[in-house]
Formats: sequence, C-alpha cells, structure tokens
Amino acid sequence: MQNSYKRVDAHLSSLGYCSRSEAKKFLKIFRVCVNGVRVFDTNKKVYHNDVTINEKVLDPESLIILMNKPSGAICSHDDKGSLIYSILPDRWQRRNPKISTIGRLDGDTTGAILLTDDGVLNHRLTSPKSDVSKLYKVTLFNPIRGDEEEIFASGTLLLSGEKKPLLPAKMKIISETVVHLEISEGRYHQVKRMFGAVGNKVVALHRVGFGKYNVEGIELGEYKILDSQ
Ligand code: URA
Repeated sequence: MQNSYKRVDAHLSSLGYCSRSEAKKFLKIFRVCVNGVRVFDTNKKVYHNDVTINEKVLDPESLIILMNKPSGAICSHDDKGSLIYSILPDRWQRRNPKISTIGRLDGDTTGAILLTDDGVLNHRLTSPKSDVSKLYKVTLFNPIRGDEEEIFASGTLLLSGEKKPLLPAKMKIISETVVHLEISEGRYHQVKRMFGAVGNKVVALHRVGFGKYNVEGIELGEYKILDSQ
C-alpha cells in the first residue's frame, strides 16, 4: 500500500477533492486533520494515511475498479456522449493521474472492465504480450453451424485486413444462438469480427470475466474497488 508524503494542497488536488487554488478554502470549510490535528496551512507536508476529512479516511492513493459496464457507456476520455467515467463519483473524475479503462469494450458491449489510475498496471495488462483471458457471452443472429469451435481453436483464423492469425480461442456452446468464448488477445472488435468470419453476426456481447475477475454480483452500471493486483 502506498503512503506518499506530499504537500496537503497537492495531495488533495491529485485525489480530486479540490484544485490547488481552492485548497485554502477547502481547508477552512472541511475538517482536514493530520493524526487528528486540524490543518489550515496548504504548505504542510502530510502522509496519505495520516489524513482524514471530516473524520473519514482519504480515497485510496491508487484505484483499481471492476465495473459491470452498461450498454451505451463509451470507453474514451475524448468522445462525445455518455462516457464510462461519468458513472464514477465526480471527485474520481478529477484525479491526476487520470483513471482510464484497461483496454476497451465497444459502446454496445456490457460486462467486466477494469479501470485504474496506475499507468504501469494498465500498460502491463493491455500490452500485446499480456495473455489475460477474457470470457464473453455471445448472442448470435444465426444458429451456430457447427465448425466454429474447431476454427476458433485452430490458431489459424485470419481476420480480414490482418497479417497474423488469431491465437487459439475456446468456444463453448450454451444454445443454438448463445456461446461462451474465451480469448487471450484484445484485437479491435475481435469477437464480432471472429463471428463475422464464420458467417454470423453478434447481436449482444457481454464480458463475463477479465482475468481472475468476474462481474457476478455486480449489477450493470455498478462497480467495486479492488484491493490490489
Ligand atoms: N470484441 C468485440 O467485438 N467487442 C468488444 O467490445 C470486445 C471484444
């Protein structure tokens, strides 16, 4: 667990409680204490774990969040429309470093997505070398034809416009039009393109699990903070 030693104004601002210029006013309005002693001086250096605001401990210094993404939430900081970050508390949206999704899900895809302000972790889990498994529940337009499992498992399927075949993926049939698909890569629109390549169309896509995490017990649009990675 981190416990940085920083000026109180800089620290509160990096956690999104107030901007540095608002810190003086913030310290007047809220009971910011260090080991129980109230602080008014914005220059004071503090350890994260010693600070309380109105008797509550600070938000964690580093956040890792598991969200059950609802349909329509966009995994981007720049796009117009309903961004996934608007589901988080306002304060978390002002944190520096920013909270970002670990990889992306399409706007209409629901399910498990991690978000973090830990750039190193984000890079590690999204790097092409990372082999984190992702489990999807896929609802299809047409009934499966029977050869998909073998084609996906072969490690030879080439998506249109790509030079490198996909790594083997595991498919499990749930019904004629619903399957579970486990992949370890994260190529652009990968699941939709895989089913496109076998003459089908995805009508609903839900990510059940990302690595060791799954969204069982988390409602759509809800999230929980994970302790650490
Ligand atoms: N594959 C897709 O096609 N879309 C997603 O959102 C995730 C994986």
